Amino acid sequence: MCGIVGYTGPREAGPILMEGLRRLEYRGYDSAGIALVDDQGDLFVEKRAGKLSNLATAIAERTPHAAVGLAHTRWATHGRPSDVNAHPQVDCTGRITVIHNGIIENFQELRDGLEARGHRLLSETDTEAIAHLIEEAYDGDIAEAARKTLQQLEGAYALAVMHRDENDRLVGARKDVPLVVGLGEGESFLASDVAAILAHTRRVIFLEEGDVADLRPEGVTITDVQGRPVERVPETIEWTVEAAEKGGYDTFMLKEIHEQPLALRQSITGRITRAGRIEVPELEPVWGAVRTATRVELVACGTASYAAMIGAAAIQSVTGLPARVTVGSEFRYDPPPLDEHTLVIAVTQSGETADTIAPTRLARERGCPIIAVTNTVGSAITREADAVLFLQAGPEMAVAASKTFVTQVTTLVILAAGLAKLRGTLSSGDESQLVEALRALPAGAERALELNEHVAAGLARRYVNSRGFMFVGRGPTYPAALEGALKLKEISYVHAEGYPAGELKHGPISLLDAEYPLVAVATRSPTYDKLISNVMEGRARDARVIAVGTEGDDGLGRIADDVCWVPDTHELLSPVLSIIPLQLFAYHVALERGTDVDQPRNLAKSVTVE
Ligand code: AGP
Repeated sequence: MCGIVGYTGPREAGPILMEGLRRLEYRGYDSAGIALVDDQGDLFVEKRAGKLSNLATAIAERTPHAAVGLAHTRWATHGRPSDVNAHPQVDCTGRITVIHNGIIENFQELRDGLEARGHRLLSETDTEAIAHLIEEAYDGDIAEAARKTLQQLEGAYALAVMHRDENDRLVGARKDVPLVVGLGEGESFLASDVAAILAHTRRVIFLEEGDVADLRPEGVTITDVQGRPVERVPETIEWTVEAAEKGGYDTFMLKEIHEQPLALRQSITGRITRAGRIEVPELEPVWGAVRTATRVELVACGTASYAAMIGAAAIQSVTGLPARVTVGSEFRYDPPPLDEHTLVIAVTQSGETADTIAPTRLARERGCPIIAVTNTVGSAITREADAVLFLQAGPEMAVAASKTFVTQVTTLVILAAGLAKLRGTLSSGDESQLVEALRALPAGAERALELNEHVAAGLARRYVNSRGFMFVGRGPTYPAALEGALKLKEISYVHAEGYPAGELKHGPISLLDAEYPLVAVATRSPTYDKLISNVMEGRARDARVIAVGTEGDDGLGRIADDVCWVPDTHELLSPVLSIIPLQLFAYHVALERGTDVDQPRNLAKSVTVE
């Protein structure tokens, strides 16, 4: 996720802002920029792709004296990482600067309108449109112009805005993306998270949905977008800088698990129209190829391959095309038949996994149309693909994937619907059902996260000394079982198997006893009854049963020793919710065992070697 820092007060803004950006480096970024209004009232803007040191070098020796400014680290979502796409973005008059975290859903419409009205937009970003809209709305009061502009924006944002002619003033606004105000002695701060400003103040206001903050050195006033004053009580932060980087959570993984509702919101943003239809404009370069495809091959590794299994099932069910997943390391040396009618979908959060890139390259050489699904703008996989769908999940720091799994599943289901629409195989009734489920997904994830205490205080302690765990599922719940087992073994170093439940009796059932529990992903599905029969076979061997079930399924409560209830959703999206208690289970078992959750032994976040 991008980082925001703002300052207004009596001190030199430049060093405070650069230090703030350094504190935000841990969030991941691909470019950085700074804007300062100097003592003469001139606007100084500098932006650089790459590391913060590039920006520091560019402004060394020439940072103007300034008492107000904004700075940003960007993690690209619209437009590749480059100097011009970095923030701050500036309006036509060169007076207004904007920095932004999040995604503006209707950015294309806004940009088109602005261009038609004579504005010249220089970058490929959604953010630049905001600067020009504020320019149109400006009538001597930057907060008022920002509020008018916010009413035209759809999507998610944390924004910071500054006008050259109001040189002690900053405006911040939030919708769905965090933004915090820092209150100092005769100075005020704005930041995407407290880590950036903790060295200067511990008195903060966490802005709430729809808040617009008007910052001056002597204090801050907060209104809603209509300009009506709202009361927000400042709080005092006790966190250390290290804890602040993790948003107050003990680890990045726990933070990222809790970021899943926001990540899902961002992933869905821009892919459902106001009229409730699924739209995947990113597919335009492969429209023709999608219509003539006869097969779909998905290629991925690890967690991404489990998400791809759900993607393959979704594609097969809504398009009728045969679709299957092969892990990259196997595909590479034993590829399936590939030609121009084989649509290849590469799924990789980092976009740099060697085992996924090599087979994609091979498929490309054989003439296959390629779609990449990745979290990382500018990554290697994007150069191999004809079309790219970004997860828009924000950077993931913990080695174990969490928010990128749920956004991969969601994006692949949306992609499946997009393919089916191009091929005319998605009925409008099925599309509406899917849209309804997608819209409810972030709130469902929030509810599933309420299980944290139950898992921490109950399940993890009760089962931590088990000899191993057998995770089972059937149909769409099977990949969730695989991912649940992978999470547990990755971070707790406890042995865990993921199996299709029907296979238990063909061998692995011999492992089960009172010390080897069965973890059943038993959410609602067409094969639910079959799965329950398999669970009963395990129980008959004394295995304790931990289940993930759909709220309201009383029968499951009578069969299992422990159940984590998650909200009902569309069958294809059920792993998005059922994985959450399993992530929490892996996490708390690992804590009980005292392992390094964020950096588990022997593992790397991005596996760029074969
Ligand atoms: C997930 O927890 C793992 N760290 C690992 O399986 C990962 O998903 C795999 O290496 C693929 O990475 P990618 O999505 O970046 O290609």
